Amino acid sequence: MKNELILILDFGGQYNQLIARRVRECNVYSEVVPFDISIEKIKEKAPKGIIFTGGPASVYGEDSPKCAKEIFNLGIPVLGICYGMQLMTYTLNGNVARANKREYGTIDVKIDNTSSLFQGFDKENKFLMSHTDFVETVPEGFKNIGLTESCPNAAMENAEKKLYGIQFHPEVNNSVNGTQVIKNFLFNICNCSGDWQISSFVDDSIKALKEKIGNKKALCALSGGVDSSVAAVLLSKAIGKNLTCIFVDHGLLRKNEGDEVEEIFTKQFDVNLVRVNAKDRFLNKLAGVVDPERKRKIIGEEFIRVFEEEAKKIGTVDFLVQGTIYPDVIESGLGKSSVIKSHHNVGGLPDYVDFKEIVEPLRDLFKDEVRKTGLELGIPENLVYRQPFPGPGLAIRIIGDITDDKLNILKEADSIFREEIAIAGLHKNINQYFAVLTNLKSVGVMGDERTYDYTIALRAVETTDFMTGIWSKIPYDVLEKVSSRIVNEVNHVNRVVYDITSKPPATIEWE
Ligand code: XMP
Repeated sequence: MKNELILILDFGGQYNQLIARRVRECNVYSEVVPFDISIEKIKEKAPKGIIFTGGPASVYGEDSPKCAKEIFNLGIPVLGICYGMQLMTYTLNGNVARANKREYGTIDVKIDNTSSLFQGFDKENKFLMSHTDFVETVPEGFKNIGLTESCPNAAMENAEKKLYGIQFHPEVNNSVNGTQVIKNFLFNICNCSGDWQISSFVDDSIKALKEKIGNKKALCALSGGVDSSVAAVLLSKAIGKNLTCIFVDHGLLRKNEGDEVEEIFTKQFDVNLVRVNAKDRFLNKLAGVVDPERKRKIIGEEFIRVFEEEAKKIGTVDFLVQGTIYPDVIESGLGKSSVIKSHHNVGGLPDYVDFKEIVEPLRDLFKDEVRKTGLELGIPENLVYRQPFPGPGLAIRIIGDITDDKLNILKEADSIFREEIAIAGLHKNINQYFAVLTNLKSVGVMGDERTYDYTIALRAVETTDFMTGIWSKIPYDVLEKVSSRIVNEVNHVNRVVYDITSKPPATIEWE
């Protein structure tokens, strides 16, 4: 059975992934696609509804992303958000104007709660507005269903054609009951039934993988992280021993992690596991490399090379399995949102790959959905809820060039930090926490001796989507204990600092 689908046309807004998540949270499957997807492709996908995202452009800009008028005549409901609403207006011959002043913030929006979009809402609601252009005149056939003090058309509808526009962002938490607006669109207007569930994803995926791979052989890139572990177990359920997992230990994992991964997959799961100890090889390639993007590319490429070599040893292998997930795909700029960092498992793929095909069974899933999939597959909770760890590993937590000595310093410091966070019982509240070896050396004093040693930075963030996050307010006594243990127990560290920057403007990782 085909899933109900909501297509989200990406006009470059920063909250696009959130829109997709909100839709899925309502048990309706959603996909983010480039704004210039063809009408034929839309028809082929047969979505129950379409959402236009926001975006930084102005409809009057020369290169601004546009859409075909035909999209509004397909009989498919459309919800335009922010820029999406303005584009709908512009395309259907309404008027978009530029305000003198940007309207920004959580603002009172007066709405017409007889509209299906606002069913169950009070007449006044607080939603996040963030715009300069606004709809001055709604297109013919539309009526106004919302306004703010400075925005005359904060919401509009053409109920007959099921076309809706909202100037505010329902997808962000600042919009009180924002998700309900999305729910109303999905269930009142698109008539979705909301039957998409992880268990159906698991069953469908196993079936599809069986069909696709048949009796051929597949290799899985196992890193020990949540994503590749879930991908590996999913594949092993589909094709059993025709799957071989290769665990490339690039030496950039956390303390003892290599051995732990080996133990889990050989003792808890009956998976063909080959562990390749390739630390020297990776460190040689990385010697002297300082640029973060180059580090990522080198590690990504070397990964593939190691796989190619191992694949040759194993015999004919047709498929390479990777644990790429949806945010990787979108953040790597395969959609139209701007590229922040290239993720080694997507953007860094070399041109020449010695496999027939790459299989990415989790490519459409958000992190929380990957975890649910893991639990559904019977993977133990402690592995499923492991904090995320980047593919390039500690290489992007050592600022500047990487050496074996620096790696050892970082592993020890990081292990102390994690240990103390667990002892303090904070591991469930902090979504990602780790140590960074800054390239900074500073003067200290140990006993009566002057020291000139490294500074370790501690990073801890609270986030649900890893796209945005706030720095965690770890109690001072815990920080104090971590700091004193690191300086006392780890050689060549004489200073510890705590990173108090949220994302944005900083990213979670330092590189
Ligand atoms: P940033 O640093 O972009 O990180 O705020 C967001 C999340 O992504 C992880 N991350 C990576 N994961 N390959 C990965 O598989 C990578 O190259 C990579 N870079 C960052 C990061 O740990 C955080 O959870």
